[in-house]
Formats: sequence, structure tokens, C-alpha cells
Amino acid sequence: MAAGERPGTGSPPPPSRLLLLVIAVALAGQALVVSGQGLSIGVNYGQIADNLPSPSRVSRLLRSMQISKVKLYDADQNVLSAFLDTGVEFVVGIGNENVSAMMDPAAAQAWVQQHVRPYLPSARITCIAVGNEVLKGNDTALKGNLLPAMQSVYQAVVALGLQGQVNVTTAHSLDIMGSSYPPSAGAFRPDVVPYMQPLLSFLSMARSPFLINCYPYFAYKADPSSVPLEYVLFQPNSGVTDPNTGLNYDNMLYAQVDSVYAAIQALGHTDIDVKISETGWPSRGDPDEPGATPEYAGIYIGNLLQRIQMKQGTPLRPSSPIDVYVFALFNENLKPGPASERNYGLFYPDGTPVYNVGLRGYLPPMDESESARKVVSLLALVAVASVTLILS
Ligand SMILES: *[C@@H]1O[C@H](CO)[C@@H](O)[C@H](O)[C@H]1NC(C)=O
Ligand SMILES: *[C@@H]1O[C@H](CO)[C@@H](O)[C@H](O)[C@H]1NC(C)=O
Ligand SMILES: *[C@@H]1O[C@H](CO)[C@@H](O)[C@H](O)[C@H]1NC(C)=O
Repeated sequence: MAAGERPGTGSPPPPSRLLLLVIAVALAGQALVVSGQGLSIGVNYGQIADNLPSPSRVSRLLRSMQISKVKLYDADQNVLSAFLDTGVEFVVGIGNENVSAMMDPAAAQAWVQQHVRPYLPSARITCIAVGNEVLKGNDTALKGNLLPAMQSVYQAVVALGLQGQVNVTTAHSLDIMGSSYPPSAGAFRPDVVPYMQPLLSFLSMARSPFLINCYPYFAYKADPSSVPLEYVLFQPNSGVTDPNTGLNYDNMLYAQVDSVYAAIQALGHTDIDVKISETGWPSRGDPDEPGATPEYAGIYIGNLLQRIQMKQGTPLRPSSPIDVYVFALFNENLKPGPASERNYGLFYPDGTPVYNVGLRGYLPPMDESESARKVVSLLALVAVASVTLILS
């Protein structure tokens, strides 16, 4: 309402204004449907929360943004069923608590048969991640079980004729790096190497990618006074030049990925793709978590999306576009740890974006009948309001 106007004191609104009002209301629902540009980005769909929308609503939300790749930490049947025939590609996971059981070939076969096979090809499961960040931890038994579990899951995939359709790998934490600077000197931690060497041979044989979870935010949080914000946020800066290769890095994420390539090469492999299975930036944190703001999170994700759209590769692999799964789709209210852990989401559970990076989506209401009721009552309200205005 313009300044100086008072309801009930002026003349009735001209019909054109009334019409505009009705059109505006009608468009309000549509306005949320501004989509992404068919970005080839992935998102991690974590579900450690008690307030998330149903998978079928999430399916609509993701498709309205044309997000075509989703990574799960399990193989939730409700989620997979909600994405049948959507063309969305899935990485499914086997949780760390289930890894050791998969060493048994019969158990692995049963798992693939029950959790993967029935959804193909309507749900495009292209990868199974066996365990998450196992080698960073101190559970020696689990670390020893990881590769045998991956091998028997792979055997199950082969036995079911899914070889080439479904990759088998595991996701690593960047904590497995002993050194990552300069990138060309990247090397795995000495205690990780005995596990990593045979694991790389497996990935090479199975033609499966190496997945790494990379968070430049952690480096910034640990030492905000010496890590330049521009370098971690993909903002213009002169970058750092690797003295061994002469390659210039204008952002930390690419330097981290190339250090992983170097570590893999140091163990004798040049034939393994590195993909970023998680990266993100928290929009909120505890007082001792500098940089966890919606502003920085928006800059990080927004600039990352631009790089993805440009199909940029890292300086070491300029012609292989980076392959990224953003962490995470929603803020997850039940995640333990510092406040930042519960605030990595692109979206609040109600579907509103946490910050604006042009990733607006449409989260449909609880169910269609409810949505129809809402529109009808909204229109009724508008009608009543208009009549009141005209009569007053
Ligand atoms: C995974 O482990 C949990 C906890 O031990 C168990 O309840 C569940 O049945 C296991 N799932 C599979 C698929 O083995
Ligand atoms: C692993 O480390 C955590 C702390 O980082 C500790 O609480 C736990 O007891 C350790 N477990 C083993 C098996 O050493
Ligand atoms: C499996 O991983 C390889 C190596 O990264 C990749 O070339 C291939 O496209 C992947 N397969 C599927 C089905 O995604």
C-alpha cells in the first residue's frame, strides 16, 4: 500500500488494481518455481532430522531445481521409490555399522538384490558407497574390513550383471591426507597407506571413482587469520603457485582435489577419477566457529555452482569437469557436534532457501488435496477482501 493511502477512506480500488491483486495471488504459487539452469550438481540428502518433508515432496523440490544427482547415506526405499522414472541419478550408501557384515558374499548379494536391483533401471542407482570416512577413524577392525566388504559388494554387482552400470567405492575424509601442500606433494597419512594401496588397486580394477569429502571451511575455521577468505570462497585473488608444477590455484578446493590426485599417483595410479562426494559451508555456528554465516555460505555455494556451470576442471585435470555433491540438501536438526553441523543445508525443512544462490525450488504442500483446499480458501479470502474494500 502506498504511503498516505488509508483503507476504508478512499474510493473503491479501480478494477484494474483488483485484477492485478488477483493475478498477483495466482502467481504467488508459481513464483517459487524459478528453477536452476539444469545444473549438473549433486546434493547429499542426509536425513538426521525429525522435521524433514516426505521423500515425494523432496522429489518434487529437487526436480523443480533440475538437480539431477543425489547421494544418500543408505538405500532408503522410501526415497528411491519417490524418484522412480525421474531420471535422477543416485549414489546409495552402506552405513559404517553395516560394512563388516558385507564381507560375507551372501550378505552382500542379498543387500544388492534387495536394495539396488529392484529399483533399476527406473531409479538410476549408479554407485554404491560402502562406508563413509572409515579410514580416518581409529576402528582398526573396521578399517581392515572395508576393502573385503567392497570386494564382495562388487562381486555381487558382477553376479547380478550390473557391472558397468553400478560403481562400487567408498567416501573418504580429507583427514586421511598426511600432506596436501603444495598440491603436487600430496600424500596419504603413513598409517592410511597400508589400507589405501590395495584399495586403489581395487578401484582401478573395478573402474570406480575415488570419493573425497572436502571442506575448505575447516581450514578457514581452524586458522581464520592466516587463511585468506577470498581463497576459500572462490573470490578473485592472486592464488598460490605450486612450485613443482607451476600450476596456479585460485581456490583451496581445487588444491585439495589435486593433492588427492598426487597422493594417488604417488601410490602408482593415474587412472582413477577423483570426485567430491561432499563439500559445503555452514550458515550458522557456535561462537568459536568463525565464518559460519549465511553470507559466506551463500558466496561459497554460489561461486561453486558457477564453477560447475563452467564445467571447470582442476589445474591438474583441466579437461575433467569437477564432479561435486554439495553437503547438504537440508539443515539436519539431530546431528550431534557443534552448531555448524546442523546448519549445512541449502534449505530449511520447510523448503525455503537458507541463503539466496539462485537455487529456488518448489516444495509442494503435504498432499494435493490439502493444496487445493488452500488455494480455494485463499481465493475466497481475496474475494471477501475485495468485496469489503469495494463496499467500504
Ligand atoms: C545395518 O545395521 C543395523 C544396526 O546394526 C541393523 O539394524 C540393520 O538391519 C543393518 N542393515 C542391513 C541392511 O544389514
Ligand atoms: C577412537 O577415538 C575416540 C576419540 O577420538 C575415542 O573416544 C575412542 O575410544 C577411540 N576408539 C578406539 C577403539 O581407540
Ligand atoms: C563409474 O566410475 C567411472 C570412473 O569414475 C566413470 O567413468 C563411470 O561413468 C561410472 N559409472 C557410472 C554408471 O556412473
